[in-house]
Amino acid sequence: MNINEKLIIALDVDNLSLAEEIVNDCGENVIFYKVGLQLFTREGIKAVEMLKKKNKKVFLDLKLHDIPNTVINAVKVAYEMNIDILTIHSMGGFGVMEGVAKLIWQLKDGGNQVPAVVGVTLLTSLDGAFLEDIIGTTNRTIEEEVIILAKAVKSAGLDGVVASPKEIVAIRENCGNDFLIITPGIRSIGTEQQDQARIATPKDAIRDGADYIVVGRPVTGSDNKKKAVQSILNEMKEGMNERKAT
Ligand code: C5P
Repeated sequence: MNINEKLIIALDVDNLSLAEEIVNDCGENVIFYKVGLQLFTREGIKAVEMLKKKNKKVFLDLKLHDIPNTVINAVKVAYEMNIDILTIHSMGGFGVMEGVAKLIWQLKDGGNQVPAVVGVTLLTSLDGAFLEDIIGTTNRTIEEEVIILAKAVKSAGLDGVVASPKEIVAIRENCGNDFLIITPGIRSIGTEQQDQARIATPKDAIRDGADYIVVGRPVTGSDNKKKAVQSILNEMKEGMNERKAT
């Protein structure tokens, strides 16, 4: 896999023309884009079609969370859009994840090209105090909870997780090499952290074993998007070299 296949740029804008402008400005080096709730709520399938017309890959980050029947049917519709990666919530429960995994296996068995389906573990915005309020006191850390959820995602048969860069190493250790890890919260040294709390550089995230990194504002907010992308790709290459060297 080329290093640029591991970079996903988040199109966190609320209309198609802004999204298309970003894609044009980023140029050929970016082949993977994230369509999230904001853009999808406004533009729906048109956002996916715009990217597919330009031969781009699509990470549809809808974090589906509902009863099994509803999520499974939504995944079926998402599959018809020919997307490449889709997110569902692991907190929807084992039945949801297993049902989705079965659907994907059936589609694959039928010779269809299927998206990778990954689970969101704990949202990084949830803090320990809130979790304690709803689950009660446990002696587990947030990282331990994330590992429990990641293992459940794996045993349900899904392809991987979205995780904070600080959790990559532990998830890799517990879930093995065949398990996709997608990490947002990426910032190069010397750039603004913005509202991201648990960040890592592109180099460290790739070195630690991330399969994909998701980058938004450092690229979409830049006046020279091609240059911003190139410098992130250079850092990712360094990370890959360090990974290979260990
Ligand atoms: O602009 P920035 O690089 O911070 O964007 C990161 C992307 O990753 C956003 O689309 C954001 O929704 C997503 N994300 C995140 N932190 C999480 C989960 C998703 O930043 N814990």
